[in-house]
Amino acid sequence: MSVSLLVDGSSSADPQTRRPAPTQPFQARFLALQDIPSLLRLEARQWSPEQAADEPSLRQRILTYPGLCVGSFCSHTGEAVSSLFMRPIHRDDLGRMRQWADVADLGSATFESTRSLLGISLTSVDPRGAWGMIQFFWPHALKQGWRDIYLGSPIPGLKQAMLSDPQLTVQHYVLQRKRGLPRDPQLRYYHRMGFRHLVALKSDYFPHPSSLNYGVLLRGVIPLAWLWPLWRLLPWSALRSMSRTVEGVL
Ligand SMILES: CC(C)(COP(=O)(O)OP(=O)(O)OC[C@H]1O[C@@H](n2cnc3c(N)ncnc32)[C@H](O)[C@@H]1OP(=O)(O)O)[C@@H](O)C(=O)NCCC(=O)NCCS
Repeated sequence: MSVSLLVDGSSSADPQTRRPAPTQPFQARFLALQDIPSLLRLEARQWSPEQAADEPSLRQRILTYPGLCVGSFCSHTGEAVSSLFMRPIHRDDLGRMRQWADVADLGSATFESTRSLLGISLTSVDPRGAWGMIQFFWPHALKQGWRDIYLGSPIPGLKQAMLSDPQLTVQHYVLQRKRGLPRDPQLRYYHRMGFRHLVALKSDYFPHPSSLNYGVLLRGVIPLAWLWPLWRLLPWSALRSMSRTVEGVL
């Protein structure tokens, strides 16, 4: 997530960095096994049956990467509104990743061998929940020493764009801009979250009809991660206070 100056996205006039208001009735935290029923309901709301994660996959992610699975929950109902699953990844392994299904088979990178994360899956029904989750994870990412995050994004505007303009190529489409922002709505969404480096375009990435099954590998730099020696030494309470104070750099 590259650095952009913003405190309250809802009041920002800058479309590059528009973000939801941070004060909302959601609680962001690390995921636990007892969250799985609620996470399955969230999956079913946002993914088709062939795309949605099943119980064993969620269980495996939470057990394998407990510090890299986060969610936002409604303070009133306790239901999951957003979830984000990540794993460590070697940059070399990214080149071997042909399809989203490969994510689970990318070896066992650990913090000892890499400082990069790969987003396995992001699901949300409320942008305030998604943003709260990112804010929650940020000081943990600094403390844990992660530097950047890769993720594979669908490009759901592609099919329609190609129908409107048969000459359009997918390579051209992913680089197109509308008022300075990516033309594709999901690339625009990630751009606002700081994922601004297009690393690779992958065909047959996952079953996603409106993206014609393409995926784009994006990279976001974790703000202030380069000060890692400092975050390692800073007590957790001081880091939490610091991150609340300077949340505007996210
Ligand atoms: C992508 C996703 C996580 C965003 O959730 P969210 O943070 O709650 O935000 P919203 O769904 O309200 O989308 C926020 C903005 O991004 C745009 N956007 C994001 N993904 C989009 C998509 N697939 N198609 C169209 N627009 C999209 C929305 O139009 C919205 O734009 P607006 O603010 O101008 O109205 C959520 O839509 C989702 O779970 N989608 C299905 C799963 C998915 O595609 N996950 C990402 C795979 S890496």
